[in-house]
Amino acid sequence: MNTIVVVGTAWGDEGKGKITDFLASKADVVARFQGGNNAGHTVIADGKYHLFQLLPSGSVNKDVVNLLTQGMVIDVKGLLEEIDELNDPNLQLYVSNRAHVVMPYHLKIEEAIELSKGKDKLSTTKKGIGPAYSDKANRIGLRMEIFTGSNFKEELKKIIRQKNIDAEKLEIESFDFEEIYNEYKVYAERMRKYVIDTSIFLNEAIEKKKKVLFEGAQGVMLCVENGTYPYVTSSSPTAAALPLYAGIAPWLLEGAIGVVKAYMTREGAGPMPTLINDEEIVKHFHKTKVEYEPRTQTYRRPGWFDSVILNHSKRVSGISHIAVTVLDVLSGLKELKICISYNHNGKEINYIPADINEYSKVTPNYITMPGWEEDISNVTCFEELPINAQNYLRKIEELSGLEVVLFSVGPNREQTIEVKSVF
Ligand code: GDP
Ligand code: IMO
Ligand code: MG
Repeated sequence: MNTIVVVGTAWGDEGKGKITDFLASKADVVARFQGGNNAGHTVIADGKYHLFQLLPSGSVNKDVVNLLTQGMVIDVKGLLEEIDELNDPNLQLYVSNRAHVVMPYHLKIEEAIELSKGKDKLSTTKKGIGPAYSDKANRIGLRMEIFTGSNFKEELKKIIRQKNIDAEKLEIESFDFEEIYNEYKVYAERMRKYVIDTSIFLNEAIEKKKKVLFEGAQGVMLCVENGTYPYVTSSSPTAAALPLYAGIAPWLLEGAIGVVKAYMTREGAGPMPTLINDEEIVKHFHKTKVEYEPRTQTYRRPGWFDSVILNHSKRVSGISHIAVTVLDVLSGLKELKICISYNHNGKEINYIPADINEYSKVTPNYITMPGWEEDISNVTCFEELPINAQNYLRKIEELSGLEVVLFSVGPNREQTIEVKSVF
């Protein structure tokens, strides 16, 4: 396949950054297509740790052209900081002229909305993502083309006038046009050289048979269309949404690699049926530090692997193959549970109820598999895995009807194992 996408199959942080970085060594182009700096994608390569929030996780691969396409909402201040931090004079980056800019008023408005919700708050990443996508839908957003063009000042003036009406309603301090303009005109100046029509670029690349890798952020359960609404993000992190967000024909996308964590985790608010309550087991997950989220400085909540969710993701996103990550973290657990269906009001179901209150009520039906004691962080192929780990992966394949083409046993690039090359 020449054109594939890497998507998260659950509530984010499945290891998309790591899988994207691994596949990027074969790619000519790597493109993020939705979300913003609510994402945090870890890449550990050549002994260096990177947390990419806006830059594609292909950015540490030489000879790759990195794109941020039109479906994204981009905090330009954050992006420029990331570019400065990477400090790579060879970085090749282009940003869509149709992508929207996250502005300081988005962050302030989000903070006020979250505060007003009290205990019902969504526990967002506080990056202004919801308000930026709302502005896009409300047709008062700021696109890259305008932001970096000659009309920026006039457009911003109009937007701030509108935002100050919102500020009054929300009872927050009004926004100062001069202050925002003076800060952001400097960023606009720096951003100009990156802005192009990424749809044209991508279509030409695909036409020339270049290898194009798309990188999703978040995960299908955080999808605004198909996730645990309203505890979701404001974009659709699915393969299905990619053509629209990238400006390509749907049939140009040849495959979708779903990144599947060997167990579930959730950051932020909202239900997770397979949530683990046993303190000893929770401790097991936390002691590895993998579940410490550097952006929010909290631990993610762990849960047992849930095949209902993987099948939901497969159906609504489209997933052709899977990459199973963090298998090593399961080492040392005596037994591993796998959710195969839910109980809902006394009935067995294998789908996700659309009503969040109903979804909060489902209880998982589990099968139990024997765990393994061995440290697997040095295995180099499937056959070197303990038989119980092999069976665990086989069970995921059986329950989802999807083939495991990659698995990973540690956070470093070398700890990703390709079972079958599909890209
Ligand atoms: P993303 O948002 O999907 O890119 O995932 P994150 O980078 O936010 O979170 C994944 C976390 O798991 C990071 O700390 C990674 O370094 C780590 N990680 C990814 N794959 C593995 C793995 O196979 N084993 C271990 N131990 N850690 C992993
Ligand atoms: P990556 O790409 C995990 C969650 C937030 C919150 C909800 C809405 O690293 O997998 P938002 O700020 O988007 O409005 O927050 O979505 N969330 C993520 N959780 N990983 C992410 O990204 C996330 N991006 C958003 O915690 O519950
Ligand atoms: Mg993450």
